Order: sequence, then structure tokens, then C-alpha cells
Amino acid sequence: MKTGIGIIGVGTVGSGVVEILESKIAYYKQELGLDLKIQQICAKTEDELSPYAQKGYAITTKVEDLFSNPDVSIVIELAGGYDLPLKWITAALNSKKHVVTANKALIAKYGHLLFPLAAKNNCHLLFEAAVGGGIPIIRALQESLTGNTVKSLRCIINGTCNYILTEMTEKGLGFASVLADAQKLGYAEADPTFDVDAIDSAHKLAILASLCSKKYINFENMHISGIREIEAVDIDSAKEMGYTLKLLGIFNQTEQGMDARVHPCLVPSNHLLASVSGVLNAVYIEANNLGPALFTGAGAGKLPTASAVVADVVSIARSMEVGLKPIPMGFYSQENPADLVPIESLFNKYYFRFTTRDEKGVLAAITSILSENGISIESIIQKNVKDPGHVNISVVTERCREAAVNNALLKIGALSSMSQHPKMIRFAE
Ligand code: HSE
Repeated sequence: MKTGIGIIGVGTVGSGVVEILESKIAYYKQELGLDLKIQQICAKTEDELSPYAQKGYAITTKVEDLFSNPDVSIVIELAGGYDLPLKWITAALNSKKHVVTANKALIAKYGHLLFPLAAKNNCHLLFEAAVGGGIPIIRALQESLTGNTVKSLRCIINGTCNYILTEMTEKGLGFASVLADAQKLGYAEADPTFDVDAIDSAHKLAILASLCSKKYINFENMHISGIREIEAVDIDSAKEMGYTLKLLGIFNQTEQGMDARVHPCLVPSNHLLASVSGVLNAVYIEANNLGPALFTGAGAGKLPTASAVVADVVSIARSMEVGLKPIPMGFYSQENPADLVPIESLFNKYYFRFTTRDEKGVLAAITSILSENGISIESIIQKNVKDPGHVNISVVTERCREAAVNNALLKIGALSSMSQHPKMIRFAE
């Protein structure tokens, strides 16, 4: 059986998909018995398409041509954005085309609409490249780990943030200058909001957490905080304490409900995740039967991401060959939403930094507010800062309730001697 592929988008990842398919199609035929063919390629302009036309591929600037093409059975969507891709994938599924996408924002935002539609049309909708680029984490959670319950995840799933934090840690630089360099090097977008404010990580965590819990986890209900507020002084304090600062996506299945959140975290420097540096991604899982496991690798980039897209195409082609039904995703629907544990009820260990005027009684005021809120101090360090007459007071707490932390920080922040809003970073637990 010939399996025709239609591709929407020949940017970085799309061109990589064509490149990999061209190099592997003969192998898929000889070794796997799969007769894959790129049937049609769609992009916005003739200019983008001209190299592919020159190679003899059928091209079009009208996406609908792919859906009405009887020789296309798998549509690969690599355009980015969400509203148009939602329209296109809806049309593709309604035309009984299987779909592969790398679009994490689309799956996180509209997966609850698309998965039921795929099921209704008996179509596969695969998205391995949506999380962790080339790391095969989706297939691992959907297939390889089905003999387990994955109870928790600790994820580094945004290469831009991991690069920025790594540079800040290794070079002692501030956030703004590292971000500017990352933009020059092409590691960060001109508008870095989605990355540095952790929205991209939240999309990806919501997808992974839904697969683990078999419930629909809406990223909009998660606590999300990014890395803009991280300062070199906090990274230095982390180092002194034997910790490394990382932006983590955290998921725990607890008796109180699903705990899913994204925020900067202090990770013990001897933990596997602390050594995941630069643009690398990693997903650390705790599975009840397997135990802990780390998946790490390139979370973005042309060929790593394209390799995950191609793996989905091959998986669909094999399923079509043997008549295998799509993996059930019925849980990913608004009728099965997860109740998320509110961040205020988190019981955790915290780091605070108070930058204050060096005045009598400040330390006593801080410690008494912490004590009034039932927060016990594990350690406290006071250091002079460049600004004469000011000090940094770093506090590490014992485990305590986040609601109490919020209350205490509000009161401490209102002390007249405070020269900056208090900083708080959670320890990774
Ligand atoms: N902006 C993403 C990152 C790209 O920095 O990881 C891959 O999703």
C-alpha cells in the first residue's frame, strides 16, 4: 500500500522532514515494507516552494488541495501558530486524513477539540515533536511505559530558558545581557515572551501531565512563572548552597489531586537534571514499576525535531498497514478535566532573598514575621551588597505551606527598610 504524505510548511522543521524522508524512504520500503511518498507540499509562497518544485514534488499554496487529494493519507502540519492550524487540522481530520504535528501550543490549547475529532474520524493524530523536540517522550508515555503509572515529572522543556540560566550560572552574567546574546545567536526569539515567561513550558507540561494522568490538564489552570526575575545574586546563592537554578515543569499525582506547575527551582547540583545544560531538554520521570528515568536530548532544531515528526509518520504508516486503531485519547476532553491542586496549598522548602537597608531590627522584624506565619528557618545568611548601607538577607526555610509564605512575604515586603520586593524561589522536591 502506498502511503502519500502532504506537508504544510517548509520552514526549518518542514525542510528537515523532507531531508530525512528523502534519505530514509528506500530503507522504509526495503526493511519495513512501507511505501512512503511525499505526495504534495504546501507553503505560503511559490518562492518557498520553488526548490521543491525543482526536485519534482507537487506543490501548492492552497492548503485545501492537500485535504482533497485522494493520494494524501497523512498530513504533516508544521506551520506554527494556532488558529489557522486548528482550522487546517480540523479539515484534514474531517477529510479522513491522519495528522502529524509538532505544534505544542495547538495541542495544549485545542487538543481537547482535536483528539475527539480524530477519534470520530478514526484517524491518527500524533505529536511526538511537540514536546522535547527529538526526545521520544510522548511515545514513551503512550506506549513504552504503559506497564507503569508515572507518578511524577520534573521537566526542562524550554531550551531558551535553559540556555539563559546556564549562561547566567557559568558566566555570572545578568538575565538581560544573556537574553540579548541569546537573541543574537538565534537561541531566543525577538519577542521572547512565550519562552522566558514559561508559557511554552506550560504548554508542554500540560501535554505530558495529561498523558501521565489520563485526564485533560488545561495549562491555563496551572501556576506559571518564568525566569525574568532571576538575578545573578540568586544564582550565586544557589551555587553556594550546592544547588543549580533551573526552570522546571513539575507534575505530581497526589491524593489531593493533580499538581502541575512551571516555575524556577533550586535543583541539588548532584541531581541528574542539574547537569542538563545549554539548550538541551530533559524529562525526569518517576514511574511506579520502572522507578526513576531520565530522557534527555535536543529539544529543538531542524533535524532533531524533524526526526520525531518522521517517526510519527512511520508509526502511522505501520498502523495503516496492519489496521491498527489510533491510540485512544478519549481522556483528553473537556469532559474529563483534572482538578489541579492550588499552588497555595503546596508544602515545600523555600529560598527567600530580602534586599534591605542595613538598619537595626530588620533581621528581627523579618524573623518574627516568618515565625508568626509558622515558617521555620533552616538557615540564614546576611551579606553586604555593592550599594553601601544595604544588605542581602538570604533565608532558607524548612518545609512550609505556600499560603503562609505568601502572607509572610507580603508583610515583609511592606517593611519600610525593604529596598526591593522580596524574592522567593522554591526548592525542587
Ligand atoms: N522555543 C522552544 C524552546 C523551541 O526554546 O525550547 C522548541 O519548542
